[in-house]
Amino acid sequence: MRANQSHETIPPYPFGAYEDGINILMLGDVVGPSGVKAVESLLPTLRQAWHVDFVSANAENADGLGVTPDSARRLLAAGVDVLTGGNHTFRNHKYRDFLLKEHRALRPMNIAAPTAPGRGYGVYSTGKGKIGVINLSGKTFMDAFDNPFAAVELALADMGRSMPIVVDFHAEATGEKKALLYHLEGRVSLVVGTHTHVQTADETIVGQTGYISDLGMCGVQNSIIGMNPEPIVSHYRTGLPPAFIPARGKAAVQGVLARINPHTGACTGIKRINISEIQEATG
Ligand SMILES: [Fe+2]
Ligand SMILES: [Fe+2]
Repeated sequence: MRANQSHETIPPYPFGAYEDGINILMLGDVVGPSGVKAVESLLPTLRQAWHVDFVSANAENADGLGVTPDSARRLLAAGVDVLTGGNHTFRNHKYRDFLLKEHRALRPMNIAAPTAPGRGYGVYSTGKGKIGVINLSGKTFMDAFDNPFAAVELALADMGRSMPIVVDFHAEATGEKKALLYHLEGRVSLVVGTHTHVQTADETIVGQTGYISDLGMCGVQNSIIGMNPEPIVSHYRTGLPPAFIPARGKAAVQGVLARINPHTGACTGIKRINISEIQEATG
């Protein structure tokens, strides 16, 4: 079963003329089977057409609330270089083992549980040199996480300043996300938000650091943040616990494409990506 994705639906290269640099595609939370399929159908072509050197995707919702190793492997096989995580990452027990074995799978480094498996940052290779990726969670309206502002200092000290570094900040509050941008301004190449599943229109470059409050999601837009509306509406109407069932159908792929100077780590361009209406085939 394959999604009906044709090359005509891929927008032109967002930066216009190609200039040398590291092109990093960061994708928002991949939600459910339709989100996974949309990434699978689009990413191989997108990587080539847009000169993409490195891809991250937040995988915490690839199976709804949580992610299975199978879905994670599919995203990696589709061309994702590193999977980030969030507050739902530990819901699937099998993924805990996966985090121990797969260095391309991260989870927020500041999770409070001292015995949590996996790692929160890593160094990866691109065709244009190494890149560091840090995965953090916010504390505002988020349970179970330690101070991300303190945690990120440990990661930066460990990785040094010899490579571009990008941060997936999985957080609810835009104020907290913006605060991390100014905390890290000039010290990292990108700070991007995930978790809300709603793409913001505030992409910018502050100093030499690219930023967006939320990448959005790779999932069905006709939904409640990627989930079937009915059980959630019922939850709000009745007060009974909600059921979270990933919506199926046409899915969008959302995130940013950023251009990084490999020598200085400066972000020289950031473009919001929203490729919508990727039809999931039936049968
Ligand atoms: Fe999410
Ligand atoms: Fe989340």
